[in-house]
Amino acid sequence: MPKSLISIHDLSKEEILHILHTASAFEREPDSSLLRHKVIATLFFEPSTRTRLSFETAANRLSARIIGFTDSGSTSVTKGESIKDTIKTVSNYADLIVIRHPLEGSARYASEVSSVPVINAGDGANQHPSQTLLDMYSILKTQQSLDGLQLTLVGDLKYGRTVHSLLQAMSLFSTRFTFVSPPELAMPLEYKQFLQHRNLSYKESKDLLPHIPEADILYITRVQAERFSEPMEYEKVKNVYSLTASMLHPCKPNLKILHPLPRVNEIALDVDNTPQAYYFEQARNGIYTRMAIMAYLLGLT
Ligand code: CP
Repeated sequence: MPKSLISIHDLSKEEILHILHTASAFEREPDSSLLRHKVIATLFFEPSTRTRLSFETAANRLSARIIGFTDSGSTSVTKGESIKDTIKTVSNYADLIVIRHPLEGSARYASEVSSVPVINAGDGANQHPSQTLLDMYSILKTQQSLDGLQLTLVGDLKYGRTVHSLLQAMSLFSTRFTFVSPPELAMPLEYKQFLQHRNLSYKESKDLLPHIPEADILYITRVQAERFSEPMEYEKVKNVYSLTASMLHPCKPNLKILHPLPRVNEIALDVDNTPQAYYFEQARNGIYTRMAIMAYLLGLT
């Protein structure tokens, strides 16, 4: 089976650092013919702006060609074709597949039936490992190190696939974690046990403000309407946190605010003009990181 990136656990600490180092090289020199003879398939069964467009930008920067769809309603999935048959077919056409699908485990299954590498671009509430790598690249760029940081994760920690992947990856770097969420959206037990097994400490809180002064990174997430089966449950928690510029005093001089985006109301617009706001640069970092991921999985340096 070719090497795929489905979970952040598919990469060792050395591989993560190698990809971040390569991303830095691509940022310095963003145009390359490294993937000139390659075809990249982007199969998006769920909406996306940043992940799809930055993967496609990354492929274009590396001179690859791109096939794919943004709406499975225009494909033979509507006629009842299975994920298995779809992936087996597309892996005849492309050298690498990027897939986003609402079902947890769908990307792993795709990698098991594919003859080419598969990148999980988000499977339900499970994992989003390329987001994690671009988050780590953003942390490294802004903090000059990944080691020993105070990482405060805020918002939907139950369904937020980006925070699950990020927690697991940053656990390799002696991170101190604080989880800020309403009880309904608390970090699932399995992730807290994961940290306990690694002797890493974490704090949990419903309140954001007391935890801002201690943070190196404030990682804010959206409460995702699409993950709730009961609309009223979403209504109860949808505006639970709203970070404003006035809340950033006091804060550490190195504090940066990250958000995987899209945002709704959880970061007020007045934060955008503060030196702590980093989420749009973070989205830009996705290009270089995804260039590095594709090159690595295709065995090209
Ligand atoms: N961060 C992220 O996954 O954004 P999109 O849903 O726009 O791809």
